[in-house]
Amino acid sequence: MHRPQLVLLESPEQLPEAASQRLAAAITEVVHRKGSCSLMLAGGNTPRGVYAALARMEQLPWGALRVYFGDERCVPPDHEDSNYLMARQSLLEPAGLAPEQVFRMRGEDEDRDAAAADYAAQLPESVDIVLLGMGPDGHTASLFPGDEVLGEAQRLVAPVYGTKPPPWRLTVTPPVLQRAGLCMVFALGASKADKIKEVFLEPVDIQARPIQLALDGLWFVDEAAAAQLPASLQAQAGA
Ligand code: 6PG
Repeated sequence: MHRPQLVLLESPEQLPEAASQRLAAAITEVVHRKGSCSLMLAGGNTPRGVYAALARMEQLPWGALRVYFGDERCVPPDHEDSNYLMARQSLLEPAGLAPEQVFRMRGEDEDRDAAAADYAAQLPESVDIVLLGMGPDGHTASLFPGDEVLGEAQRLVAPVYGTKPPPWRLTVTPPVLQRAGLCMVFALGASKADKIKEVFLEPVDIQARPIQLALDGLWFVDEAAAAQLPASLQAQAGA
């Protein structure tokens, strides 16, 4: 049984406050230590509330932040499926981040390999804080179970044809997550309970469970998603 840092939430409504507080503390610590902080955002729906709560924290050293994306759907940046659009609306604009602080994946480019290579060239050697969601199948970013990109050891960003619509995406590859200073995972809801049990109790198998790349991270899980974890693991969870 793995022993990740688990924050057990009584309800999904607790995520924005709990996660934004821990994220703000982590950002502040990195900025104090290094003078700047690279933050890689997760897509999907779960993080939206966390980003909105973070954006309200005026005391954060916002000017020292550089924002990246863990994946992007291959749609225009103003498309409803765009992870950039979600981040722009919930975090980037409300927090007043300058354009030069935001490094957007160009998912809309026709040449996806070139877009992936261009983005990889913009990434730091190690991203300080990487935010991740988890799909019911154990995918994270756009690293889907069984995809050959899970064996990628050279490229830091790659195009993938995923199983979650829209299928064409750009994603960071496992080395980016493995080199991260800190990974934070947000997993809510009963639909993820089976996979959370597998992730925490089964041996590490990145091909089957890509989210296990973040097992040594900080996990925010609500009671519905944690329902199948043994009581011992739930009991040791902090809040
Ligand atoms: C994406 C995300 C993806 C997401 C999970 C969870 O672009 O879709 O990167 O990995 O984090 O699918 O999505 P929800 O937060 O919407 O459940």
